[in-house]
Amino acid sequence: MPDFEPVLTANLAKPDGHRLAVYEAGGGYRALRRALAELAPKDVLEQVRTSGLRGRGGAGFPTGLKWSFLPADHPGPIYLCVNADESEPGTFVNRVLIEGDPHQVIEGTILSAYATRASTAYVYLRYEYPLALARLEAALAECRAAGYLGRNILGSAFSLDIFVHRGAAAYVCGEETGLIESIEGKRAWPRIKPPFPAVEGLFRRPTVVNNVETLACVTHIIDRGPAWFRSIGVPPDPTNPRDPGSFGPKMYGASGHVNRPGWFEAPLGAACRELIDRFAGGVWKGRRAKAVVPGGLSTGLLAESELDTPMDFAGPVRAGCLGLGTGCMIVLDETYPILEFLYNSCRFFAHESCGQCTPCREGTQWALELCQRIRAGRGRLVDLDLLAEIGDSIGIMPGTTICGLADGAAWPIKNALGKFRDELEEHIRTTNPSGFGQTEPVEAMEFAGREPRMNADERG
Ligand SMILES: Cc1cc2nc3c(=O)[nH]c(=O)nc-3n(C[C@H](O)[C@H](O)[C@H](O)COP(=O)(O)O)c2cc1C
Ligand code: SF4
Repeated sequence: MPDFEPVLTANLAKPDGHRLAVYEAGGGYRALRRALAELAPKDVLEQVRTSGLRGRGGAGFPTGLKWSFLPADHPGPIYLCVNADESEPGTFVNRVLIEGDPHQVIEGTILSAYATRASTAYVYLRYEYPLALARLEAALAECRAAGYLGRNILGSAFSLDIFVHRGAAAYVCGEETGLIESIEGKRAWPRIKPPFPAVEGLFRRPTVVNNVETLACVTHIIDRGPAWFRSIGVPPDPTNPRDPGSFGPKMYGASGHVNRPGWFEAPLGAACRELIDRFAGGVWKGRRAKAVVPGGLSTGLLAESELDTPMDFAGPVRAGCLGLGTGCMIVLDETYPILEFLYNSCRFFAHESCGQCTPCREGTQWALELCQRIRAGRGRLVDLDLLAEIGDSIGIMPGTTICGLADGAAWPIKNALGKFRDELEEHIRTTNPSGFGQTEPVEAMEFAGREPRMNADERG
């Protein structure tokens, strides 16, 4: 990993790093002052586009390109939603940023609202983040008092306010159109797209949804320039015309079977193994890793032999995962049964499916029930084929669902089966020696320990 100066996390270790005075003493709001005095909104957008910034919320969509989809001649209002729902299992870096340095996120939000001509921004904050809520509300109050928010910010013609909207405590609330529905006061059911939010989003107006860390990056791009941002990370792959590269710093996290769980900042593209060894103290108890979830449960699994994969937007995809996701890794040591990973993953997605799409609602539940059957010692080898069929048939990619939650449910299944099938087969053979080869249909209700199906209200 090259020498690297952390910027996103620079304030986190400072005493009172969340307060305005400390933020300003470190150069905070310098970028905003300069942008409002010297740059037109289109110049800010152009700098973000040139920087190559890609969204940190999971999909890695180029931020400047997303902003350019807003209709140029819209009379307004235009809205900006800050996605701080952060419900992806194993992921916590947005919380750390908001608790430790809320002004960095707010400055990026104001700059981004200026670039997109948004007049109101909403921070959609995960319900279970009370300290982040308190810090954010206090920081917004400091900004209003200091003239960074409100009418005619710093004497310019630009006006903006930012409101915090507490999340509705479901994973699907983080999906951008589910989030929009939730802010509108409805159940967070993702919308069919198109229209995309840039055309018709919050209150049916053009809307940009960006992740907390994406907006924090905007602060530094405007402060230090796009060339600085592009000097960090991984350039586009010349053999792949669709790869725009992975530029800039990234906040990574590590949890699970490591010696020092936590967050850290590194250039995009650092190897998964190096990040775990260098920042998280390596795998615990002197063991080896069996697998690593690269960036939140929905991204799937890297096997131990794939841990030199670069943690950029392209690396985990090349290794057969859904993507980089949030960059928050979950380490499973060599003793941890893959069946338990699979079961917990299926349990989570079956619980979180909003139920609108039949393949997602039924598929996630049946995948869970198959795992339960295997765990109860009644598994058959054909159950793995059934699981594989579910994994291949739910999601936006096979084109059967409205949102990506189902893709996120599918990837752990696909990777567990694709990379650890031998272990799963061995488990089935050992725990069901007389029935593992059965192929005839089995009554699902028969086996013990089946958890009751959830109804629509329980799904939320
Ligand atoms: C089920 C689901 C949950 C999601 N949860 C989050 C989340 O908690 N935070 C987030 O930033 N993006 C989340 N996303 C991605 C958002 O839909 C959206 O792509 C993202 O907020 C865009 O921001 P970015 O371009 O800055 O990455 C989720 C997507 C899906 C399908
Ligand atoms: S894919 Fe699943 S979570 Fe997404 S809208 Fe369909 S049922 Fe709901």
